[in-house]
Amino acid sequence: MTSTTTSDTTAHSGSALELDDIQAGVLMPRPNPYAGAYWGLRIDDRSAGRELLRRLIPLLEPVSSYNPDRPVSLGVALSYAGLEQLGVPQASLATFPPAFQQGMAARAAQLGDVGENAPENWERPLGSKDLHVVVVALARDTALMESLVTLTGDALRELPAVAPVWYLDVHVPADGREQFGFKDSISQPSVAGTGILGSNPHEAPLKAGEFILGYQDETGKVSPMPQPDTLGRNGTYVAFRKLHQRVAAFRRYLQQSAVDRTEQELLAAKMVGRWPSGAPLALAPDKDDPELGGDPSRNNAFLYGDDPRGLKCPLGAHARRMNARDSNINGLVRLHRMIRRGTNYGPSLAPGVLEDDGADRGLMFAFVGAHLDRQFEFVQHEWVSDGTFIGTDEKDPLVAMNEQGQFTIPMRPIRRRLKALPSFVVNRGGEYCFAPGLRALRWLANLDT
Ligand code: HEM
Repeated sequence: MTSTTTSDTTAHSGSALELDDIQAGVLMPRPNPYAGAYWGLRIDDRSAGRELLRRLIPLLEPVSSYNPDRPVSLGVALSYAGLEQLGVPQASLATFPPAFQQGMAARAAQLGDVGENAPENWERPLGSKDLHVVVVALARDTALMESLVTLTGDALRELPAVAPVWYLDVHVPADGREQFGFKDSISQPSVAGTGILGSNPHEAPLKAGEFILGYQDETGKVSPMPQPDTLGRNGTYVAFRKLHQRVAAFRRYLQQSAVDRTEQELLAAKMVGRWPSGAPLALAPDKDDPELGGDPSRNNAFLYGDDPRGLKCPLGAHARRMNARDSNINGLVRLHRMIRRGTNYGPSLAPGVLEDDGADRGLMFAFVGAHLDRQFEFVQHEWVSDGTFIGTDEKDPLVAMNEQGQFTIPMRPIRRRLKALPSFVVNRGGEYCFAPGLRALRWLANLDT
């Protein structure tokens, strides 16, 4: 395990975090660069499903023995339909929170998944009852992906009642940039008790119960968790979303809105809240600073308190909306934090190309947190799709469903207002999953119902 200390192991959680039981991928930072894959599996028979888990468990690593040099690693999560298929007793299923029980498609209204983002337009089997297990596999490079395919292939051998129903290759390039060209996954919360250093030295570690079930959270309580305790404890929720990115449309919009390349870059940075290198506008308001962007000790070391009007970083910029830090907004930022595990999928669009080539490319967004409703759903509904919390009716300019949207950029002497914003991101589907602790996976694998 990297950079761990023991000093804060119990400080915020009330009890020591069981790092030897939590799946490594939940808390440990990802290698960089890396290649990966998502496998979606359908369980047609409960005993085959349990056998699958028995085969997968030895391949999983807990946080405590995570080895960043290990060439490949796996994570496993189950949908509510998957838990039903495994034969989890009804009394236990009923203890999962309503959002998880219903699944992402049924929560479309809460998530603003309407129009082209509506579940009826999703890629199947996303949003159906056929996605039961999601296996996420990571390798440090594409060459190693073969061993991953073998690993998971072995797990499925002679198990005809477990059907692979969905697959997606993902990757994070060496420069860490997502498809619009901006370095991503810079800002992550620090979780008390893990010893993993946070990326923002101005943010006190969040209590473990925000991210792992069975521990005290920021409300000062241990929130109810799925029962029995063996099942819930050390688990967490994962929200996957396959977000298609309209890269050519994004570039064309910038070109049409700016007089030259320099202005295009500025407008794009104002929409994101960071420059392509990752340098935050809060620290580099006028131009990109690749040295700052590439320095993990500085590129997330900032607050917004000295920029109340958003002259450096607009209040409506994607990154500022998603984590307003110390800005004076309506609401408590610490109750809506999340761990993100986003990866690119599809080929990148060559630099300078302004016409769509028809390829499916985007971000496989993955939220990790203990509270689907007050973390993921709240942020998606209130902060992505509504601007009331910062006193405007503008949505997220980068990732919201925008039809003729607008985005205000405070500037001196007069503000700039971008109009007729289209949607640059389309949701192709997703699901809510539960990533159990290792003990819980063994419990599931050995159910005798
Ligand atoms: C295709 C869609 C998306 C793209 C291209 C994208 C891109 C980015 C980029 C470039 C950053 C700045 C780098 C960083 O701080 O890590 C960022 C930050 C962030 N994004 Fe997104 N994002 C997308 C969707 C989402 C969604 C759907 C959510 C939540 C529902 C989200 C939540 C966040 C959060 C929490 C941060 C960190 C803000 C901070 O702590 O400063 N993103 N995103």
